[in-house]
Amino acid sequence: MATQTGITIEGPGKPYTVVDNIVRPTPGPNEALVKTLYVGLNPVDPIMHQTGLLIQSFPAVTGSDFCAVVLSVGPETSKISEGDIVIGCVPIGINEFSPFQESFLVNENWILRTHTGDDALDEKKLEQGATVGAGLLTSGLGLTEGLKVELPVSGSDKVLSKDEWLIVMGGSGSVGQFAVQLGKLGGYKVAASCSASKAAIAQKAGAEATFDNRAPIDEQLGMIERITGGGRFARVFDASAQSSNLSLRALDEIANTSSGAKYFSTVDDWSDIKTPQGITTYRVQFGQLGKTSTPIGNEITQKCEALVELFQKHLVAGNLKPLDTYTVMDGQGWEALSQTLSGFEAGSLKIDGRKPVIKIADI
Ligand SMILES: NC(=O)c1ccc[n+]([C@@H]2O[C@H](COP(=O)([O-])OP(=O)(O)OC[C@H]3O[C@@H](n4cnc5c(N)ncnc54)[C@H](OP(=O)(O)O)[C@@H]3O)[C@@H](O)[C@H]2O)c1
Repeated sequence: MATQTGITIEGPGKPYTVVDNIVRPTPGPNEALVKTLYVGLNPVDPIMHQTGLLIQSFPAVTGSDFCAVVLSVGPETSKISEGDIVIGCVPIGINEFSPFQESFLVNENWILRTHTGDDALDEKKLEQGATVGAGLLTSGLGLTEGLKVELPVSGSDKVLSKDEWLIVMGGSGSVGQFAVQLGKLGGYKVAASCSASKAAIAQKAGAEATFDNRAPIDEQLGMIERITGGGRFARVFDASAQSSNLSLRALDEIANTSSGAKYFSTVDDWSDIKTPQGITTYRVQFGQLGKTSTPIGNEITQKCEALVELFQKHLVAGNLKPLDTYTVMDGQGWEALSQTLSGFEAGSLKIDGRKPVIKIADI
């Protein structure tokens, strides 16, 4: 039985340990074995480590966003071939699908193949590939399922601009920047909340207007009212998990569109949120990707498969772009990853809220 290196944890809160005895998995029918090139860290990584949330077995191999190269494919794959570069986010918490090891499994329907032609091996594009997965799919669920935003079905279709705003709370973050991009792609004018110092990030993603997410809530409501011309919005996505109250008050007290329907969606799937009457609420559960033995896992997996197919076209057409708010950490491999994870969890990484990306191996 072939074994490989990686980092594992023995239980919630136990240290990451570099090991060389992880069993190398074998791809099933629609799967491929891929070699980890870069990983990107998400807020869920420290949560999994500290609490064991979503982890299916210990010792656990974890991780979320990745850029990888295909080593071998299973018998029924039709979308990927040996040597392809693939990016995305894994189904969280399943050892053999997790990227903190030399090689891991991917399902061909859950990954993006955006690196083609001469660009495929460009190092900058490889590192950027590890910034896309969780952010894009989480915002995709939030906007298409939660806010009923319709996106162009092909990379070249254009949607007519709407005289209506869509509000993204946390438009400077990983999920938020993709939400801003998707709101624009759906034809909306997008207003985003963020720290005053990060307004340029949300604007670069496409926000027409920004407001300060640390201002008192009544001030933020006032800014939303002014920006949206007295309430020309019916859709709010909270990508920060900090702004449910503000979002719901904005929809309840200010939103004023002719249809009357109002939509709130949020990445916060753990707090007790009370929704006023007349507002449809959706809570994103991206962590259910790949958990097909449960109804919610099955539903999220099917929705993500459809989004992957759609986003593939828009990424290749350049309508959606990877993040540039990331930092490639010093060093390479498991020690560099362990150290970065420790700093990320302790909040001591000096990267100003940028997404940490770690190089694991050369192609
Ligand atoms: N439910 C799901 O399926 C799911 C999936 C993925 C992520 N998530 C959750 O989504 C959240 C965002 O993830 P991410 O990767 O985008 O994180 P991130 O890149 O760190 O972004 C965090 C965002 O929240 C904003 N923010 C931070 N503190 C705030 C506050 N006190 N008030 C208002 N806004 C504040 C930040 O704005 P500034 O930095 O500009 O202040 C930034 O825009 C995390 O909580 C994560 O756990 C949930």
